[in-house]
Amino acid sequence: MPETADFTKDARPRAARDFDLSLDIVRVAEEAAIACHAHVGGGDERAADQAAVDAMRNALNAIEMDGRIVIGEGDRDETPMLYIGESVGTGKGPAIDIALDPLEGTTLAAKAMANALAVIAFAPRGGMLHAPDTYMEKLAIGPGYPEGVVDLDWTPEENVRSLAKAKGVAPSEIVACVLDRPRHDAIITGLRKAGARVHLITDGDVAGVIHTAQPETGIDIYMGQGGAPEGVLACAALKCVGGQFQGRLVFRNADERSRAARLGVTDFDRKYTLNDLVSSDAVFIATGITHGTLLRGVQKETNVRGDGFVTTESLVMISKTHTVRRLSMRRPLVKA
Ligand code: FBP
Repeated sequence: MPETADFTKDARPRAARDFDLSLDIVRVAEEAAIACHAHVGGGDERAADQAAVDAMRNALNAIEMDGRIVIGEGDRDETPMLYIGESVGTGKGPAIDIALDPLEGTTLAAKAMANALAVIAFAPRGGMLHAPDTYMEKLAIGPGYPEGVVDLDWTPEENVRSLAKAKGVAPSEIVACVLDRPRHDAIITGLRKAGARVHLITDGDVAGVIHTAQPETGIDIYMGQGGAPEGVLACAALKCVGGQFQGRLVFRNADERSRAARLGVTDFDRKYTLNDLVSSDAVFIATGITHGTLLRGVQKETNVRGDGFVTTESLVMISKTHTVRRLSMRRPLVKA
């Protein structure tokens, strides 16, 4: 029998179990980042993604756990690896749900641009929404604000004015992060009309959402449509550091609706809060692939014989204790 989701068979506090498992799982993200790094700048998004997927799957399967993928590379019939529903781990140990994106920012990696990440989150069974691979409208702010200070159903102008008032600053002091896409033209215009400054990113909205909880980035609010799976991953991170999130699935066609229905979505217009998307305590882990605003990327030092070291930097966040660790790993390079 696998252990139960609430870890009742382990006498240690839940936080200690999360910590132990997070150290196993941070290796998974490190291995994905290192494998993917060999393809950084190579211009081949598929090769970069496949390298990260293979490494992540191998490392996951070595861990003593009864893991189940709830957010992965897609449906079973579309992808042979890390598909939604796939079991990972040895089958013994804690029963956990896993959300992952082995390469968050395929274009960023292929073009050697900043902020490509290997991302993975875990929670007890049932702790994270099985988000379909559709778009999601997203709105996020960092910690410290009262509930209801921003709303997905308000205009960008209304959100900027309300947030500025709550922060005690002029709207011109508010910085909004938005993915640079034509579909966001109206949002960007609205934000600027309200006086806010707009921080455009080319990709990588998991980092964009997390930045709202990092005052050093200057970003106050995240707005716009991005991947729904990335929305759940970002919520796992916000759950650890505080902040608010609202999301609504966006369906472009009947196929996307039926995919969502297969994953158990019944209310297609539902406005999800952070706790709807990640309902239990969770652990969020990311390793940098390329240098970026969240993490340093993989660094290799080699000598003329090809010997050397590889260094990674990872974030490990545990919601139960609101602990944020930044882990640096350096090890000898393994020759192919
Ligand atoms: P990939 O790693 O799948 O390429 O996702 C990168 C990303 O920028 C996400 O962070 C974001 O949620 C999504 O793409 C936005 O989708 P699109 O590029 O279609 O606008």
